[in-house]
Amino acid sequence: MFIRQTLIMISLLVGLGLWLPTTPSLQAEENANPGINRHYQEPDFERWRSTFERPGREVYDRRHAIVDALELEPGMRIADVGAGTGLFTRLFAKQVGDTGKVYAVDIAENFVENVVRTSREQGLNNVEGIVNDQQSTRLPERSVDRVFLSDTYHHFEYPGAMLASIHRALRPNGKLAIIDFRKQPGRSSSWVMSHVRANKDQVIDEVAAAGFELVRDLPMLEENYFLIFRRR
Ligand SMILES: C[S@@+](CC[C@H](N)C(=O)[O-])C[C@H]1O[C@@H](n2cnc3c(N)ncnc32)[C@H](O)[C@@H]1O
Repeated sequence: MFIRQTLIMISLLVGLGLWLPTTPSLQAEENANPGINRHYQEPDFERWRSTFERPGREVYDRRHAIVDALELEPGMRIADVGAGTGLFTRLFAKQVGDTGKVYAVDIAENFVENVVRTSREQGLNNVEGIVNDQQSTRLPERSVDRVFLSDTYHHFEYPGAMLASIHRALRPNGKLAIIDFRKQPGRSSSWVMSHVRANKDQVIDEVAAAGFELVRDLPMLEENYFLIFRRR
């Protein structure tokens, strides 16, 4: 009797639009870092290229070792999410060859267009550009063996939505590589302390909660950490 009355009450409330179950999947994720991407709304490609692709930037100086650590093989498919000016996209394209593919994914259309152009100029025809949004990579489902994020995870305004999208895009046993700034009080610069949202442990927790298992924590960088996760 009690159960029947409860069901009738819920039906009435749902009918009137007054009741919704509060499961986490129905709660909208809040923007974790509003304004973090204001510089990338209409970016000047050449200006940013001289910022991202310059000696002294750790990921630029160690770019070849970083690419080697990803263990890419000819024929693989990899997404460079937050590709920026394509520093890594073009290196990946050489590694995976004509039978492979690199998706250059970025929220900034101007970056994506110029990454595809500069790749073609180097004879790299295996690069496909995707202009995405803050809640989706817009990658096809189960399409890639690797997703690579360099200096990009802390730019995700909706990390939960982006991680879910990356999870969908990876093939079974696909890997997600994340390079981002170490955020350590007393050691990191004041710019990093204020600009970067989460430290390494928080990132590991967030990524694990999204269905990934940490398989490598590579000690090869100083200013940055370099983590490799496997899709569970
Ligand atoms: C600091 S740059 C890093 C560029 C490049 N990965 C590198 O290391 O040279 C961050 C990039 O992430 C892009 N970005 C920010 N949020 C993004 C998102 N949700 N999805 C894809 N790209 C994003 C920005 O437009 C920018 O190009």
